[in-house]
Amino acid sequence: MKTPNIPENAPFNDIQRAWLGGFFAGMHSHMLQNTDSVNNADARTINILYGTQTGNSESIANDAAAVAKSHGLLANVKSLDDIELDMLVTMEYLLIIISTYGEGEMPDNAQLLWDAISADSSPKMEQTKYSVLALGDTSYDLFCQAGVDWDNRLSELGADRLYDRIDCDVDFDDPTEAWISSVIPMMAEGATVSVVASDSEANNKPKYNRKNPFSTKILSNRLLTSETSSKETRHYEFSLEGSGLTYEAGDALNVIPQNCPDLVADIIKAIRCNGDEEQPIHSELMTLSEALRTHFEIKLPNKDLIQEIANRSGNQEFNKLIKSEDRNELSKYLWGRDILDLLLQFPAIDISAAEFIALLKPLQHRAYSISSSGKMHPESVHLTVASVRYRSHDRDHKGVCSTYMADLVNENTDVKIFFSPNTSFRVPEDDTLPIIMVGPGTGIAPFRAFLQERQYRKASGKNWLLFGDRNKATDFIYQDEIEAMQTNGVLTRLDLAFSRDQEEKIYVQDKMRENGAEMFSWLENGGSFYVCGDANYMAKDVDKALHEIIEKHGNKTADQAVEYVNQMKKEKRYVRDVY
Ligand SMILES: Cc1cc2nc3c(=O)[nH]c(=O)nc-3n(C[C@H](O)[C@H](O)[C@H](O)COP(=O)(O)OP(=O)(O)OC[C@H]3O[C@@H](n4cnc5c(N)ncnc54)[C@H](O)[C@@H]3O)c2cc1C
Ligand SMILES: NC(=O)c1ccc[n+]([C@@H]2O[C@H](COP(=O)([O-])OP(=O)(O)OC[C@H]3O[C@@H](n4cnc5c(N)ncnc54)[C@H](OP(=O)(O)O)[C@@H]3O)[C@@H](O)[C@H]2O)c1
Ligand SMILES: Cc1cc2nc3c(=O)[nH]c(=O)nc-3n(C[C@H](O)[C@H](O)[C@H](O)COP(=O)(O)O)c2cc1C
Repeated sequence: MKTPNIPENAPFNDIQRAWLGGFFAGMHSHMLQNTDSVNNADARTINILYGTQTGNSESIANDAAAVAKSHGLLANVKSLDDIELDMLVTMEYLLIIISTYGEGEMPDNAQLLWDAISADSSPKMEQTKYSVLALGDTSYDLFCQAGVDWDNRLSELGADRLYDRIDCDVDFDDPTEAWISSVIPMMAEGATVSVVASDSEANNKPKYNRKNPFSTKILSNRLLTSETSSKETRHYEFSLEGSGLTYEAGDALNVIPQNCPDLVADIIKAIRCNGDEEQPIHSELMTLSEALRTHFEIKLPNKDLIQEIANRSGNQEFNKLIKSEDRNELSKYLWGRDILDLLLQFPAIDISAAEFIALLKPLQHRAYSISSSGKMHPESVHLTVASVRYRSHDRDHKGVCSTYMADLVNENTDVKIFFSPNTSFRVPEDDTLPIIMVGPGTGIAPFRAFLQERQYRKASGKNWLLFGDRNKATDFIYQDEIEAMQTNGVLTRLDLAFSRDQEEKIYVQDKMRENGAEMFSWLENGGSFYVCGDANYMAKDVDKALHEIIEKHGNKTADQAVEYVNQMKKEKRYVRDVY
């Protein structure tokens, strides 16, 4: 067998490319010694199951599948909830790629299978060889907990951990590549392989990504809330002209921000530098000032930095707080405090520019639910963003990315963006089916996109929007568009919940309950139920209301309502985009 040349545009990094070249060279002798068939149907299948909320794990699963196929393996890529427990326990080769959501919770499309496998009655899995890749963010207390839970449970059930779990922080590209290029060869060992190296996934890979974002210009930055509102929510449009990029309603757009120059200057002053100190960043020299503006997270304090400030401050009380088992106390202390607040609180600490930078995390992109339909607006992409501004500890604080877009970007700025597909958050393929969209606040974003999409497709299915915010007079964003959609018949039903227009708060879930009978009839008619916006409170309360409605209007017990909702989840008729 001839060692194939790995094409230049194949989806591998240099390490993988070198390794793959070696693999194919080695495969010749391996096949001579070991393999009596190269029939595709006989090749080993590895099951690559992902749990995702915003698409990262799914995209990594597809990368792993591409590498597996290039090793002659068959790859079965599925979301965890597309698999029944009976099927899972028969799998011999299993890779789990899963993110963590909420506070250490499973992402939505992994919950059902997790409930099944974590039950005492779950069968053993002694014939399974597996490895887990966990995605997470170290700024959360329960880092990568969903991955940890899966890893522990599979091991408890007797499955053989072929390769140790890797827990990835927000910069997951390198550890992910390392995991794939280690675990796939282990899964391939001794396998009957197919000779067909598929690169179909390579062709589907997005042209622009985190490491290679698209540089665009802003076309529109418009205030949606009124000048007198207690909130600031803005509408943005970015150009896609010449990019060849396309997107679907339901996808997210990631924006790579730059830090506010005023905050950079204040931090430089607080660490008693002048900003001109040259620093090596990714083998390039740049000034401290430039590095802080473009490369590092300088707002949200990370654990290492907090610990180092505590060490250097010598402050006993602060050190006690950090070491305390009671995480709530530390969270309470940190709420509303940014890195500058900590530096100002302990002005005596001595830290060099290089030491300070070494303690910072890389500046991350922020995700935004796209508020336009790519079919109606192929040349641009729209966002609906609440500007984060608050006063605490005697200073005005600004969210990095939301105010980068609001205050710093102008028509001459190059803004770096890339898309994250969210394949489960989609309007139904069947245009005749009804949809219910619950999206208070900026949660309305993807539903503006859904309505545009349904309008463009001339979908005959009914559309019901439940929207709300603080006050009708100042916060009824997109009011003109929404009313026009009611007039032209695209929006069949609209329920509004303005929470602060009366003494008692009224929320979207109150509107759901008021109209429970009709909502249940939409669900019975095959309706999909979508939720977008705040994950911490709203989405949980809406979930509770949904169960109550099904129980009451479907004459069901609480357990039957849970079953009903689970079935909706399996059919992808209950999907959420919550943050
Ligand atoms: C999939 C997804 C979709 C999203 N879609 C949207 C969307 O459509 N629209 C939208 O507006 N956002 C959306 N977000 C949120 C968005 O990604 C950012 O988190 C948000 O814009 C804030 O980012 P920032 O950089 O401006 O603020 P950051 O610099 O990240 O600061 C935010 C932090 O500031 C602190 N903070 C905020 N408010 C206060 C306060 N009042 N008091 C004290 N501390 C406070 C908190 O620690 C908070 O975590 C989405 C998130 C995800 C994951
Ligand atoms: N990471 C960030 O910094 C960041 C930035 C932007 C948004 N977000 C998240 O995204 C969410 C959306 O923000 P937003 O400004 O668009 O709107 P929001 O703050 O969620 O407010 C929208 C409406 O929802 C109401 N609401 C509050 N609690 C609710 C509950 N339990 N159930 C139902 N409705 C509830 C609010 O009422 P009241 O306010 O009157 O109670 C308001 O009327 C935020 O809550 C936040 O979690 C985070
Ligand atoms: C609302 C929200 C909650 C999160 N909660 C956690 C958490 O508790 N622990 C953690 O390690 N990561 C947490 N994360 C980080 C995600 O796991 C991380 O961003 C991951 O890359 C997402 O991958 P996905 O796109 O496959 O869902 C959270 C992210 C968001 C937006």
